[in-house]
Amino acid sequence: MVWGHHLLPGGPLPFCGGFSYREQGLQNPATAQSSAPGGGLMGKGYLVTGTDTGVGKTVITAALVGVWRRRGIDALAVKPVQSGAVMQDGQLIPEDAAFYRRAAGLSLPMDELNLYRFEPAVSPHLAAQLSGESIAPGRVVDFCRQALQKHHLTLVEGAGGLCVPLSGPEFTVAHLAGELSLPLLVVARPGLGSINHTVLTVAYARNAGLAVAGIIINGQKQEEAGPTEMNNPLVIEAMTGVRVLGIVPYLPAVSVEEGRTGGLLDAVEQAVAWRELL
Ligand SMILES: Nc1ncnc2c1ncn2[C@@H]1O[C@H](COP(=O)(O)OP(=O)(O)OP(=O)(O)O)[C@@H](O)[C@H]1O
Ligand SMILES: [Mg+2]
Repeated sequence: MVWGHHLLPGGPLPFCGGFSYREQGLQNPATAQSSAPGGGLMGKGYLVTGTDTGVGKTVITAALVGVWRRRGIDALAVKPVQSGAVMQDGQLIPEDAAFYRRAAGLSLPMDELNLYRFEPAVSPHLAAQLSGESIAPGRVVDFCRQALQKHHLTLVEGAGGLCVPLSGPEFTVAHLAGELSLPLLVVARPGLGSINHTVLTVAYARNAGLAVAGIIINGQKQEEAGPTEMNNPLVIEAMTGVRVLGIVPYLPAVSVEEGRTGGLLDAVEQAVAWRELL
């Protein structure tokens, strides 16, 4: 059976090129185990994905964790696999985790926030290959489980969108969410094209047996807020049945690359229904 055609009308989809998990001897995220092998208690968590790369997953992840921590909640963000890491003084810096530390005031060492880091700014499976390394799915899952076990609320940031291969087609971001039994938070763009990207992301998630807890629209420029931007959240909610938890404005003082966090926590605290995720 090809993974993922049961929830859409009209029979089997040519989904992922007809890729069959069972035929490949691989595990379907829909049937992944939820409990840790050691049986440890897991805290609450979400996997933060996006409709694309660069939609603002890191900004939203860091801000939510920062807002929760302000309220005294033991929240953490991890980025298990980072490509496009930056070389500084002979050391590879995983930029997303560095931003979490700065924006959310995390003091944990970088190695507890990020497991694999690669310099090439390409899909993780390729970045690893180009770096002469490989990603072990089991290590990625264990790394995230440890964070989930140690903290009350953990956000796991994927890479790019749901279909992005971490080690290869057998272990994508969707597989990671399935292995961890984490519901998704989907970060989406505000403008034209976003209905399609967001609805497709939610449909793919459901086909993979993943729950979607909410959608956050990020980067709304007030001067560009026209009929599309006003109408998108309504249509996205109607077509997915998932709540849009907030629309975060474009914040000129914020930059992941430059480590600038100006006004981010206040803006997200105001714009996003963060209490609903507790
Ligand atoms: N609300 C915002 N206001 C201003 N700039 C933003 C906002 N959200 C994101 N950005 C900027 O957009 C760029 C992409 O954001 P971010 O790194 O969070 O995306 P991402 O989805 O995590 O990307 P990746 O797939 O590489 O992990 C960064 O330069 C970030 O500073
Ligand atoms: Mg990111």
